[in-house]
Amino acid sequence: MYSSNYTFSVADYPFKHAGPVPSARMIDREDELRLLGRAAGERTPIRLAAPRRYGKTTLLAAHAEAVGRSGWRAVRVDLGGISDLAGLTRALLVAWAGHREAGPVRRAERLAGRLGADVSLTGPRITLAPARAEPSDHGRLLEELLALPDEVAKSTGDPVLVVLDEFQDLLVAGPGLDARLRAVIQHHQDVAYVFAGSEPSMLARMFERHEAPFFGQAEPLTLSPLPIESTIDEVERRFAELELSPGDAAAALVELGEGHPQRTMLLCHLLARRLTEPDGGAGTEGDADALVDLVLQDALEQTAEIHAAALAPLTRNQRIVLGEVAHGRAPTSADLAARQGATRGSFHQAAEALVTAGQLLARDPGPRWRLIDPLLRLRLRR
Ligand SMILES: Nc1ncnc2c1ncn2[C@@H]1O[C@H](COP(=O)(O)OP(=O)(O)O)[C@@H](O)[C@H]1O
Ligand SMILES: [Mg+2]
Repeated sequence: MYSSNYTFSVADYPFKHAGPVPSARMIDREDELRLLGRAAGERTPIRLAAPRRYGKTTLLAAHAEAVGRSGWRAVRVDLGGISDLAGLTRALLVAWAGHREAGPVRRAERLAGRLGADVSLTGPRITLAPARAEPSDHGRLLEELLALPDEVAKSTGDPVLVVLDEFQDLLVAGPGLDARLRAVIQHHQDVAYVFAGSEPSMLARMFERHEAPFFGQAEPLTLSPLPIESTIDEVERRFAELELSPGDAAAALVELGEGHPQRTMLLCHLLARRLTEPDGGAGTEGDADALVDLVLQDALEQTAEIHAAALAPLTRNQRIVLGEVAHGRAPTSADLAARQGATRGSFHQAAEALVTAGQLLARDPGPRWRLIDPLLRLRLRR
């Protein structure tokens, strides 16, 4: 099974399993791209909500590329992990650095510099030291940065796409920032916005509470699991590209991945690794089931810490609910309540809280409960 021709450029490795993948490697998502394209054309704001590692950033990068081909300027702001105003202004400056040839962008950078913020430009990167600027200065700079999309559109004549990724972290940076953002961007003319986030509940709070500044302001878009059959076809093409022969193991692993984009790629990556290493499949020649088992073991090892961290903050009832769902049983049955000496209501609440948090448990129409991460499901069944 070992292939001596196993060479690829790292940038184009077909089973990349962390961070966004290049658009040419994106599986499916044509409908979502079309919807995003149409919405941009109409300047309809979109809010994209999906669990972590479900392919939001990948899709948005493909969208930015597509509108870029028709003469748009695309700016992706990564709000992930920001904790204060300085972090927000830094994220915006970094996002705009690629459009420095536009006058308004250079003006905003000069303001940042004058405010004593240390805007040192090394290549396209900006490091903005927050220490020397007062919070009010960052406020002024923020207004300027938030106004940029409209000003750049006006001064260049190009429509602008602004993607605010990990948008839920905006509120971590400071209370009322959503209201300030809204106040500025509601007057923008030739600008299309996409708000993307990995905590559906938080995003929902920002857009669905009546008193929230963005209430009713954006059309919702969610990401479904990848379609199994076309994913199998694509994955098998990629193994062929790597000159590897996975037999039936690839299809079996894609099915076990249940359409979870990152988990599917991780499983394929681990399979490719097994197939590449001399005797990586130790004694499994031609036995797809044995090979699949080995890869699952690898995958559960790789995800052990992440799963432990995800389970750690959960209540006892929430853990019971996940266990029941993992075993294909209803998490709110009278039988379970009797066995555990608790009320059905308390399990229902636990399940609802998990669905609201958006990372572990989802409810499909039915109502049927489903673990978002197929590897966590397998772990809980062991
Ligand atoms: N459409 C897709 N096709 C193939 N792999 C995908 C796709 N979407 C996501 N992935 C996989 O999931 C991983 C995480 O994708 P990413 O776009 O960073 O997700 P998110 O932004 O939702 O956290 C990627 O490294 C890749 O392995
Ligand atoms: Mg992302």
